[in-house]
Amino acid sequence: MKTSGTKKTVVIGLLGTVMDKRGKGVKRWNSWRPTVGIFMQEDLLVDRVELLHDDRDNRLANNVGADIESVSPSTEVGLHNIQFRDPWDFENVYSTLLDFVESYPFKPEEERYLIHITTGTHVAQICWFLLCEANYIPGSLLQTSPDRGDKSVAGNYHIIDLDLSKYDAISSRFKRQQLEGTEFLKSGIATRNHRFNNMIQQIERVAIRSQAPILITGPTGAGKSHLAKKIYELKHKRSLVQGEFVAVNCATLRGDSAMSALFGHSRGAFTGAQTARKGLLTKATEGLLFLDEIGELGLDEQAMLLHAIEEKTFYPVGSDNPVISDFQLIAGTNRDLQKQVQGGTFREDLLARINLWSYQLPGLKDRREDIEPNLDFELLKIEQQMGHKVSFNKAARQRFIEFSQQTDSLWSGNFRDLNACVQRMATLSDGGRINEALVTEECERLKQYWQKSHQDDALPALDEFFTPEQITEIDLFDQLQLRQVIAICQESRTMSDAGRQLFNRSRLKKSSTNDSHRLRQYLSKFGLSFEELQNPRA
Ligand SMILES: Nc1ncnc2c1ncn2[C@@H]1O[C@H](COP(=O)(O)OP(=O)(O)O)[C@@H](O)[C@H]1O
Ligand SMILES: [Mg+2]
Repeated sequence: MKTSGTKKTVVIGLLGTVMDKRGKGVKRWNSWRPTVGIFMQEDLLVDRVELLHDDRDNRLANNVGADIESVSPSTEVGLHNIQFRDPWDFENVYSTLLDFVESYPFKPEEERYLIHITTGTHVAQICWFLLCEANYIPGSLLQTSPDRGDKSVAGNYHIIDLDLSKYDAISSRFKRQQLEGTEFLKSGIATRNHRFNNMIQQIERVAIRSQAPILITGPTGAGKSHLAKKIYELKHKRSLVQGEFVAVNCATLRGDSAMSALFGHSRGAFTGAQTARKGLLTKATEGLLFLDEIGELGLDEQAMLLHAIEEKTFYPVGSDNPVISDFQLIAGTNRDLQKQVQGGTFREDLLARINLWSYQLPGLKDRREDIEPNLDFELLKIEQQMGHKVSFNKAARQRFIEFSQQTDSLWSGNFRDLNACVQRMATLSDGGRINEALVTEECERLKQYWQKSHQDDALPALDEFFTPEQITEIDLFDQLQLRQVIAICQESRTMSDAGRQLFNRSRLKKSSTNDSHRLRQYLSKFGLSFEELQNPRA
């Protein structure tokens, strides 16, 4: 290794309190000393050395400095006092070296820097590496080692330039692994939608770096549950979680048993509790708890859950002994939790907690360019299930893709619709060949299905105005009628406009009827007013 051009060479390193210390007698010249050895290298000319050492090693530092000057008279020796509180404490060593580095007047245009990493604890070694990698130090690492045959006390040296292409190869391996992470989350499906791809990239980073709760929202079938599982698997693959993936749909946690299902109960906590029970939070210890449809969780359970997240402890039903909670939470919902907060059915503080990382998965209709790659993925899955190849003929495929892109193809069930329709076509196909006739038939079926579900969706949902408990008190008959009435009220400018439309027949027969009054009475039966329907959020 030659000195580079006209630049001066500067070595920076820690004094080795063991290996650089070989006594004061002449015998010290019989052993390899890593720091002194650098200056005995014939092909490495060093203009200056900055030797970092502790107060207690002043004597040794002076002796080593003198020895350096005697073997390499042209080298200027600088001694620097630095104080490690604990040379094995990562944070302490890193910040001490960082302080030194930040105050050091580097002149990379005039000098090249070699950071000697062989002396000091391996904690120091790692810190040097990190500082170079992060470009706090504009230099290369210098590694020294004793001569194998122990013939020369100068030993060997090796310069590691982290900017060189071979280290680039290592960092591109890192990058590849990162890519594998996003690929993994996408099940290897080559999705084309920018927003979705960016979102997955960020989710990957968050999954790897954070333990904080994640909230996944989006329409049914958009892949919330699937993504939660994938996040767990990714973390598990990278050894970031040891425990299990525990998934529960909060809609199934109703009534008295909900608390105990989540948090467990002690023996004798209530009649029938003959033995203690561990809840789902405990089952998810060191793992990941997926609370699907978290909007369905009762307010008491929400309070307890918040406590478990914030205080890292919770109380099983009937127990005064706190249990330590140690799990990561992913919550899923297709509800508007903000609205639920306004309606008083979701705790604002819990939402604030789980909202730190929140991702809205788009429906398929909002990323139609991804339908085709997903179609191929579904076909592959079906092939594996059926054990034989399933494919479209060319015209059939084109016909299906065209249909899938039309704006009136709603894909309201998202992946569930795609999955179901591929399944149907594959099953009905002869010899795994999907032809145009099958596609036409399937498109008709989907269209009708979406029309029906769209009509239904077009009506306002009652949960804007009522709590789930209140809704269960209303007859289905009334629910259907009420939704229709609310829709008309919302479309009308005034109450009499709405009344005229709703009571159009009676109006023709008996001109004296007060439509507004009738409508007001109807609404008040459900505790509603026209004004509030116009501004459901107010
Ligand atoms: N990104 C995806 N790619 C392919 N299939 C998916 C993807 N996400 C979900 N699916 C499939 O679609 C179906 C619905 O997904 P799911 O996660 O249950 O939706 P959600 O929880 O949002 O209602 C499942 O069969 C799932 O395997
Ligand atoms: Mg789900």
